[in-house]
Amino acid sequence: MLTPIKDNLARELAPELGLTVDKIYSLFEIPKELSHGHLSVPLFVLAKELKKAPPAIAKEMAQKLLTKNIAIVDRIDPVGGYLNIHIKDEYLFNTIYQEVRTSGVQLGHSSVGSGKTVVIDYSSPNVAKPMHVGHLRASMIGQAIRNLAETQGYKVIGLNHLGDWGVQFGKLAYAYNMWGAEYPFESEPFESLFKLYVRFHEEAEKNPEIEKEGSLLFKKLEEGDPELLALWKRFVEISMKDFDRLWSRLGMKHDLVRGESFYNSRLKPTEALLEEKGLLVESQGAMVVNLDDEKMPPCLIRKSDGASLYATRDLASAIYRIEELKADVSLYVVGSDQALHFKQVFSVLRRMGYSWWDKCHHISFGMYRFKDVGKMSSRKGQIIRLEDLLNKAVEIVREVIREKNPNLPNFEAVAEQVAVGAIIFNDLVNDRVRDVDFNWEKALSFEGDSGPYLQYVHVRCMSILNKAGVSIEGAAGVSTHASGTVNGARKLPDKVIALKSDEERELIKTLMSYEMVLSEAYKNFKPNILATYLLELSSAFNKFYHKHRILGGEVEFESSRLALVYITKQVIKSGLGVLNIEAPDAM
Ligand code: ARG
Repeated sequence: MLTPIKDNLARELAPELGLTVDKIYSLFEIPKELSHGHLSVPLFVLAKELKKAPPAIAKEMAQKLLTKNIAIVDRIDPVGGYLNIHIKDEYLFNTIYQEVRTSGVQLGHSSVGSGKTVVIDYSSPNVAKPMHVGHLRASMIGQAIRNLAETQGYKVIGLNHLGDWGVQFGKLAYAYNMWGAEYPFESEPFESLFKLYVRFHEEAEKNPEIEKEGSLLFKKLEEGDPELLALWKRFVEISMKDFDRLWSRLGMKHDLVRGESFYNSRLKPTEALLEEKGLLVESQGAMVVNLDDEKMPPCLIRKSDGASLYATRDLASAIYRIEELKADVSLYVVGSDQALHFKQVFSVLRRMGYSWWDKCHHISFGMYRFKDVGKMSSRKGQIIRLEDLLNKAVEIVREVIREKNPNLPNFEAVAEQVAVGAIIFNDLVNDRVRDVDFNWEKALSFEGDSGPYLQYVHVRCMSILNKAGVSIEGAAGVSTHASGTVNGARKLPDKVIALKSDEERELIKTLMSYEMVLSEAYKNFKPNILATYLLELSSAFNKFYHKHRILGGEVEFESSRLALVYITKQVIKSGLGVLNIEAPDAM
């Protein structure tokens, strides 16, 4: 939406400023205040070459540009070291409008990433353990970053690094053999599996010997014992079925399941390479890579009993992602509690001589703190399940809709969309690096800056368009009729006229920023940049809506205002979609 404007301006400014078009392009910023224009160019880069202070350069340049008369520019103000550019209202509005009409789902997209591949690991839960609220972050932050990468034109491969290998499977096998018959595996497979997991740890507190039994069984499993393998396979299938159900409720998907077990055949070659590079040393019977010089504890490669480890599998997997999946960027969306682990893994990769080690990034996120619930522990069975959270939210939303809009069509579907949207937004609106205090009330609040608030603004736009009987014909060939009736449909104008009130100009500038917001949110791997933007957009829309009469207002403005409502609706829907939140047409 900004691209044609930036293209145009950069070409005009380049010869005057003595900078390349690309350089100017990269300098553009959107000023916070509309009074500072729509776009600004900082001139600090020129100070050295011209041996002048940036404010003086700005003045000089503004003078020069005054005589140039750039068609789309209303005026250019020198402010401090910046050139503040005010675009002509009518041009700006029309450019955005045409873009929204033609771009369809590609709205605000860029092609900077085209030809490059992003591999992203997210959600990645562990077999036999139900997903808890902590996984909400790993899932939704990951999925949102995935969607953001797609808006930038990258090819994205979403990986599920399923926790499907490790000593816990020996323990589970032990528990299954001992007590499996006591649980209803036929009717409640996943619950039974989790109960066995908890049971094992309870029993181990009383009788630590069974830990050894578990380790022994895992060793047998690693050696390929067919019975244990069959049992293991069953545990994995039971768990994946449960995870899939939850993921589909969250609208989340992976492209590939590459669980930890996938790397079993690659562990030996990885270790051989470590050996060859002289990195592997023995420590108390175990094999490790020393990281003393970086003041980190050693990275554990193989346990004294010969069992492989989490880090070893992550090394093999990192190599796989870059060398076989051909990742240009390899992202790991995992909680901050694993920061040390990833630092160690990436450091070992560097020591192995992989120059691409810095393509790997741990996209860390803060933990939930549970003041009112105490610490979560899967082992003790004390967790807040993601599913319970979702179900509770749906119950509350049902109540609200029953009260406010009892005849709503698709009642159940909308309740689900609103409830899940509330939970997702509540999570994504936080800067991911910060810890979040979890409390039920907040997670389930639909007031103020919430997902349902955004969904409601979308619904409001829809109902205005419906009331006007607007039919929307996109040049992309998509024809949606807002009210569902084609006869007597009203078409949006082909060209809009300038809307000049403060609220309208503010709203148009906010809409203009969408493309830049997507790019910033991706660059920083921070979905909250987009979440916050959508709140600002909604507030700008509400100011416009409360101040101006859209239908039945001044005739010459009516259809342009309807077009403005339409653009707002499309941007909110698109932005919510990137955050993986649905935008119902009515609620
Ligand atoms: N399964 C792990 C957990 O739940 C997360 C895996 C993250 N990805 C990775 N490549 N280590 O803690």
